[in-house]
Amino acid sequence: MAGIGLSLPLKFTHGPTFSSSIPRSSSSRCYSSSVKMTVSVDETKKTFTLQKSEEAFNAAKELMPGGVNSPVRAFRSVGGQPIVIDSVKGSHMWDIDGNEYIDYVGSWGPAIIGHADDEVLAALAETMKKGTSFGAPCLLENILAQMVISAVPSIEMVRFVNSGTEACMGVLRLARAFTCKMKVIKFEGCYHGHADPFLVKAGSGVATLGLPDSPGVPKSATIDTLTSPYNDITAVENLFNTHKGEIAAVILEPVVGNAGFITPKPEFLNFLQKITKENDTLLIFDEVMTGFRLAYGGAQEYFGITPDLTTLGKIIGGGLPVGAYGGRQEIMEMVAPAGPMYQAGTLSGNPLAMTAGIHTLKRLQEPGTYDYLDKVTRQLIEGILDAGKAAGHEICGGHISGMFGFFFTDGPVYNFEDAKKSDTGKFARFYRGMLEEGVYLAPSQFEAGFTGLKHTQEDIQRTIDAAEKVFKNL
Ligand SMILES: Cc1ncc(COP(=O)(O)O)c(C=O)c1O
Repeated sequence: MAGIGLSLPLKFTHGPTFSSSIPRSSSSRCYSSSVKMTVSVDETKKTFTLQKSEEAFNAAKELMPGGVNSPVRAFRSVGGQPIVIDSVKGSHMWDIDGNEYIDYVGSWGPAIIGHADDEVLAALAETMKKGTSFGAPCLLENILAQMVISAVPSIEMVRFVNSGTEACMGVLRLARAFTCKMKVIKFEGCYHGHADPFLVKAGSGVATLGLPDSPGVPKSATIDTLTSPYNDITAVENLFNTHKGEIAAVILEPVVGNAGFITPKPEFLNFLQKITKENDTLLIFDEVMTGFRLAYGGAQEYFGITPDLTTLGKIIGGGLPVGAYGGRQEIMEMVAPAGPMYQAGTLSGNPLAMTAGIHTLKRLQEPGTYDYLDKVTRQLIEGILDAGKAAGHEICGGHISGMFGFFFTDGPVYNFEDAKKSDTGKFARFYRGMLEEGVYLAPSQFEAGFTGLKHTQEDIQRTIDAAEKVFKNL
């Protein structure tokens, strides 16, 4: 597929027919191209094929680096054909070939109440009548801010941004501004978005690709980033001893989801709170993934440990782009225009993201939601582990609330080094087998899985049945 005059031979029979022109111009290469797509889905089709996904993805590779807008979607670490999604609803998703999947990715976390929830969609439609972006204060920001402040123990004041990456960038600048110190400790395998200071042995996509960090990140951006293995108290003590008086913050995923699913040892979070207090260092929980997922008040409610600052994202935007950082008022009042630390955003606090967030959190406030998440996720992970062991595989894993994961190793897995002992080749084969059985897991060993309120007993049983079948043939 060349970059000029693109035309994709895909047609919908019961979906929309669309065509889009992509005018491209640059000073040296000036040309225009048009993409015409008609995708057809045969409702009677029973066999698993990804022919249309393949065609669309091949076209995408000419248009976007690797065919995607975020690396892990390209299936590089599991191999095989990435699926191109047509629609989502509840706990299920459909690709453009008409295959249906039980989804355990949930758009990487936001879909905790189920995809395309009717109430969220209706609220969005109402908000849209008033416009999509104001670039000025709106009441919806107050409502979501109030909900976040009431829910998350550490947050007395919040700033909304547009992604988790932005939230982590902002919170790091704030910690440095408040403490007048520059160094930060992060943990190997924890991912805090793709801002330069964090791209040192980052987890998730970078780990999967086997890159120690990323070209293009200047040494000056990472020189103040210190790293330690997760759950390693001695390593953190050593860093504090070596860099006395220099450490602005310790940032971590309170439960890791970006190196696979890894829980903190019982004493680890308490230790971090103690050592940060003793050294006038700020403790930052990156709850972009765990916020409103492990409990309504996030990991800090679940573990009963209140950090100084917190980042959020994913769920609080209900599937629209959002992020947030917050903490004690005295710290947050450093942020412009209340204080001197600059941070801004054209679309920050936009009415659509606020609306989706508000209605998602409302649903999560209903009685029994987190008990339900815990119940179905426990059944799921126990079923998968039992099936794996019964088929003779080394496997370990676990869950908290609606977050889970497993590794192809006996374990235990306490940090990223342990996680890397997993048989990733076996994971890739398992992954592709499950996909063919209609189960969509995160396409990397080093990602957590997510359940939501719309996952049914039937979904869980079908997934376990599929796993039993796939494990036997690995
Ligand atoms: C813990 C954590 N922090 C930060 C981020 C970055 O968020 P975003 O992808 O919205 O930039 C992620 C994304 O998965 C994450 O899991």
